[in-house]
Amino acid sequence: MKFVNSYKDKMRKYNEEHNLTYYIDTMGCQMNENDSLKYAGILEGMGFKKGNEDTANVYVFNTCCVRENAENTLFGRLGMLKRRKINNEEIYIAIVGCMTQQEHILEKIKKSYRFVDIVLGTSCMSIFPEKLYDTIVNDKKKIEYIDVSNNLEEDVPIVYEDKYKASVSIIYGCNNFCTYCIVPYVRGRERSRKPEDIINDVKRLAKEGYKEIMLLGQNVNSYGNDFEEKYTFPMLLKDLEKVEGIEIIRFMSPHPKDFKDDLIEVIKNSKKVARQIHLPLQSGNTEILKKMNRRYTKEEYIDLALKLKEIPDISLSTDIIVGFPNETEEQFLDTLDVVRKVEFDQIYMFIYSKRTGTIAAKMEDEVTYDEKVDRLERLKKLYEETLPKLNAKMIGKEYKLLVEGKSKNNNKLYTGRTSQNKVVVFEATNNDVGKVVNVKIDSEHLWYLKGSIVR
Ligand code: SAH
Ligand code: SF4
Ligand code: F3S
Repeated sequence: MKFVNSYKDKMRKYNEEHNLTYYIDTMGCQMNENDSLKYAGILEGMGFKKGNEDTANVYVFNTCCVRENAENTLFGRLGMLKRRKINNEEIYIAIVGCMTQQEHILEKIKKSYRFVDIVLGTSCMSIFPEKLYDTIVNDKKKIEYIDVSNNLEEDVPIVYEDKYKASVSIIYGCNNFCTYCIVPYVRGRERSRKPEDIINDVKRLAKEGYKEIMLLGQNVNSYGNDFEEKYTFPMLLKDLEKVEGIEIIRFMSPHPKDFKDDLIEVIKNSKKVARQIHLPLQSGNTEILKKMNRRYTKEEYIDLALKLKEIPDISLSTDIIVGFPNETEEQFLDTLDVVRKVEFDQIYMFIYSKRTGTIAAKMEDEVTYDEKVDRLERLKKLYEETLPKLNAKMIGKEYKLLVEGKSKNNNKLYTGRTSQNKVVVFEATNNDVGKVVNVKIDSEHLWYLKGSIVR
């Protein structure tokens, strides 16, 4: 479905007189961040200027519901905006994204947050301009629940904040139904974008000077499963490799169960695919993995990870959940065992969060919260013990990286990420920004490395 904004000119005209500004508050994953860039694209096309958190006129909350804490965050922030509404300031509030696909959230907004103007579900960008125009110009208040529409919206305008790195969604939705996860319920079924649409996007980005792209999807390696003709994720990677100007290709997230040899081969033979793979583990215990519906065993995961580690200079990152319902101490020790054997460069760790509507939410859980926190701490400790060792292997070697800009913590230094996704700080000049340079690693500092440009 092609995105058409028939409210663009009308709204621009209105904005010429009213000069309204917008602010987007994004929670959740990179898919949501990518969606927020599209909301920004739509708003800017309609003549809204980017404003700040305290004074903006249009607020868009792009929400996440993968874990419980995001709900409290949203309602806390809404509470703060209420005062501005009561003071009759010109302010409009839209809530979009995953959280709005849940019935109980909608009920809560309708009951306790009636000052919210627009509520739209996921894949609803096409109707956003109309709702916004109606709210602002026609003074119509709309609180609506839009069901997961399974839309695939093409040609939505997008504004990137970064000048050299851009994210590109390649597949929407998820069919995996991991038992703990709410995403398949709020993001709908898998829909792959047409290869030509993706390739054209990437070619355009390359022309605009972008050097690095991040391909996004809840499960990127099931890309193309919904096509009649065979066109797979490895085939897409090969085609994108040919786009001149693009130097680094990343993707997130692949599912271990779909990570086949053809994909490993493409990565191995590619000069552009980053030497960093995000391979979500979730648990290292086969029984828990089965209860999670992950469809791989502890051994299968280790085999795959070690096979990937044979690619020179590769780094692995992962997601791990501790305290899945009734996870025993022995089962948790299996997770630590996998972490010890694989040696991840980055681990995103979460305490299991019960999500209403999922299968796991109905499972008995006798593990105390304190126990779960303790497991998280132990996992963190093991990870932090491993990391310096992995970093140290990089010292003395040269790595290609894109100079992204000045370091936030030290104004005299510049920063970039290696293909392995390691942050490096080094001396450089403004001229180097946006260029791909070779950096030799001099020392490691746990969360970052120090290096020097090889000229
Ligand atoms: N599609 C991606 C991840 C999406 S959600 C994938 O499969 O890798 C990002 C991460 O949040 C997941 O990998 C998982 O580790 C975590 N997560 C999802 N549901 C959760 C829950 N109910 N409690 C705690 N963590 C959860
Ligand atoms: Fe959630 Fe599993 Fe789908 Fe990832 S693959 S989004 S964890 S259901
Ligand atoms: Fe959250 Fe939705 Fe992403 S639930 S993790 S924002 S897909």
